[in-house]
Amino acid sequence: MSEIIIVNNLDGGYEVYVGGKRRVFVHAVDNVSLILRSNEVLGIAGESGCGKSTLAKMIYGAIIPPLVVRSGSIKLQTRKGNFVELNKLSIEEMRKKIWWTEISYIPQNSMNILNPLKRIKDQFINVFKYHDMNIDKEEVMKYIKDTLISLSLPLEVINAYPHQLSGGMRQRVVIALSLLFNPRIVIADEPTTAVDVVTQRIILSLIKEWREKNKSSLILISHDMSVHAYMDNRVAIMYAGNIVEIGEIFELFKEPLHPYTRALIESLIRKGDKTLRKGLPGLPPDLTNPPPGCRFHPRCPYAMDICRREVPPATTLGRDRYVKCWLYTGRG
Ligand SMILES: Nc1ncnc2c1ncn2[C@@H]1O[C@H](COP(=O)(O)OP(=O)(O)O)[C@@H](O)[C@H]1O
Ligand code: SF4
Ligand SMILES: [Mg+2]
Repeated sequence: MSEIIIVNNLDGGYEVYVGGKRRVFVHAVDNVSLILRSNEVLGIAGESGCGKSTLAKMIYGAIIPPLVVRSGSIKLQTRKGNFVELNKLSIEEMRKKIWWTEISYIPQNSMNILNPLKRIKDQFINVFKYHDMNIDKEEVMKYIKDTLISLSLPLEVINAYPHQLSGGMRQRVVIALSLLFNPRIVIADEPTTAVDVVTQRIILSLIKEWREKNKSSLILISHDMSVHAYMDNRVAIMYAGNIVEIGEIFELFKEPLHPYTRALIESLIRKGDKTLRKGLPGLPPDLTNPPPGCRFHPRCPYAMDICRREVPPATTLGRDRYVKCWLYTGRG
């Protein structure tokens, strides 16, 4: 499997004004490096507020103020095999060459992005117009029907308005829209958070089937570790803007290394287990003023003096294992 996206030292966040005057920086993505391989699912996990959505927006190039990218690079290997630096492309180049065809993005809470005044059919046709696609009406309808069928959506939805569909159906329509041009990479941000458990399973299975059939790659963002266990090949654990651990999914569940990863896995409720789970005490830090040293130290039961002073370096343990914690330095 070749590397299809290479993110190097990506750093950024939100420049916001408090009380309309004092400028503060929310450091939501702190020097992140990772790779996505062809035909794989890379999960990004972590509690709410840890920077997962910000990282997704930065990789996709959806940089709308107050979001700013301060440094780093995102390289994409195109269908032709050459690499392009996405953060050097203009919005127009992204629209023409990258968005929807190379990379599609399903934003968080996306079931609400459909235009309430337009039939589903017209929302699909708008996507073709946005891409200046010059294809005839019959071909457009075939594209739309094929995509709906691939997500097990009844063809009647074509003529429906969004309010006539359930939340789960709307979410599937949004996913169908994003898969319309068979993108090689999909970034899905919490695609099942707002739906019930049964619909969640259906949606995840459909995305899984579509991806396996098309051999596309998926960056799947979810705070829910059980979603990652079901979907991922590898998972990156994000805490307070940092990727603190990456591993192959089976290995990571079998032997979580970072104390934060362990806490996330321990908080999962297993079938038949009636133990009351305490969960991880405390909350992720305020990213306008994160703690010095290891950002997890105020919540970590293993914190040492050095953790409070110095940022832990990354330790690589094998091809697909990486951890950022003082407990492992010198073991790589
Ligand atoms: N538009 C915004 N303006 C200012 N701060 C933001 C904005 N969006 C997110 N943040 C802050 O950035 C941090 C990371 O948020 P986010 O990327 O949404 O995390 P996650 O997806 O892991 O829940 C949080 O502290 C959040 O409050
Ligand atoms: S570096 Fe220290 S505080 Fe951070 S996770 Fe490791 S042991 Fe805990
Ligand atoms: Mg989010």
